[in-house]
Amino acid sequence: MSGVFIFSEDPIMNTESPLQLLGGMTAREFLRDYWQKKPLLIRQAIADFENPVSPDELAGLSLEEEIESRLVIEHGEQPWELRRGPFAEDTYQSLPERDWTLLVQAVDQFIPEVAELRDQFNFLPNWRIDDVMISFAAPGGGVGPHFDNYDVFLLQGHGTRRWRIGQMCDGDSPLLAHEELRILAEFEQQDEWVLQPGDMLYLPPRLAHYGTAEDDCMTYSIGFRAPSTAELLTHYTDFIAQFLTDEERYTDADIKPASDPNQIQADAVQRLRAMLNEQLSDDRLLLSWFGQFMTEPRYPERIAGTDIEESELLDALQQGALLVRNPSARLAWSEVDTDLLLFSSGNSRLLPGSLRELVRNICAADALHLDNLAAWLKDGEARNLILELIKQGSLEFADE
Ligand code: SIN
Ligand code: CO
Repeated sequence: MSGVFIFSEDPIMNTESPLQLLGGMTAREFLRDYWQKKPLLIRQAIADFENPVSPDELAGLSLEEEIESRLVIEHGEQPWELRRGPFAEDTYQSLPERDWTLLVQAVDQFIPEVAELRDQFNFLPNWRIDDVMISFAAPGGGVGPHFDNYDVFLLQGHGTRRWRIGQMCDGDSPLLAHEELRILAEFEQQDEWVLQPGDMLYLPPRLAHYGTAEDDCMTYSIGFRAPSTAELLTHYTDFIAQFLTDEERYTDADIKPASDPNQIQADAVQRLRAMLNEQLSDDRLLLSWFGQFMTEPRYPERIAGTDIEESELLDALQQGALLVRNPSARLAWSEVDTDLLLFSSGNSRLLPGSLRELVRNICAADALHLDNLAAWLKDGEARNLILELIKQGSLEFADE
């Protein structure tokens, strides 16, 4: 990182206090000893957990066109049959008594109580969280032994589930022949636990795991996002390329006479290396791109935006309106010298450092209203920022 960045050292999270979510460990201890390294079972991570979504509600979500859902039926039309939603209401009448699972993606975008669960994970960067997936399984149901390429916290929400963990895997781990599901052909069990509501299992990336429902059960997966190196490179190079002119090309002004004209000499590689390094070493550009990339929404169609005049915004706030983050919007911020960068659903905005607290509140998804906005509304740039975020769809008025 070059010296132009001053990253804030005053986290909102206290990393030194023991967290019940982590079984009494501090965030610092968990991150040091477990995160990305080894699994951790936490009994009663959330004591007296009240399941915010009933199995029927989850099934209801799977009927919606805009929500991603899947059914995995172990003994279906083929072993481990995968069906993709949206499902019809009668789907559930025709399912077998046991050995199937319904998985619904990004429920946090649709049910506020599920979105609130994410707050428990504030000791990790919010932009690393992908979504909260919820599964419902009939007795015996599971998605087969597999590994994921990202960290996940598996919180038991309802009923009991047996989790088995196995070996560390990679792209060479043998899989069953299946068109879509990546089910491991070999599972070397290392440990197993039965989880009750409120219990949670943390799994690092690539650890084989296999969950089976002991009875009707629901599991909340708080999954993290880890873009692949290939994805990062292709997206970032596409991003930089739009700023390059056609005249910026390979040059070799001081080339030596070729001893063999068919040989690509080492100095050509050095020139290429210098050319690429020059493009890749701009931290400010890298940050601008990364913030946009990581805040790309999963469902862009849910970030519709509203055309609104400043006077309408002010009137609405005067009348007690609440502004909240669109649950489908992703927000993040960063500092560049004395300025700020606010990333919202794939966009970036350079803002003066004076808006820091406002930007923090917006990203923390605190509700904004006349009381906490009064001072900001006197500032033209703050008013403009709020307006722009409403127009873009990242902020919206709460329905009340
Ligand atoms: C599930 O909830 O059934 C699957 C979660 C996982 O194994 O990643
Ligand atoms: Co998994």
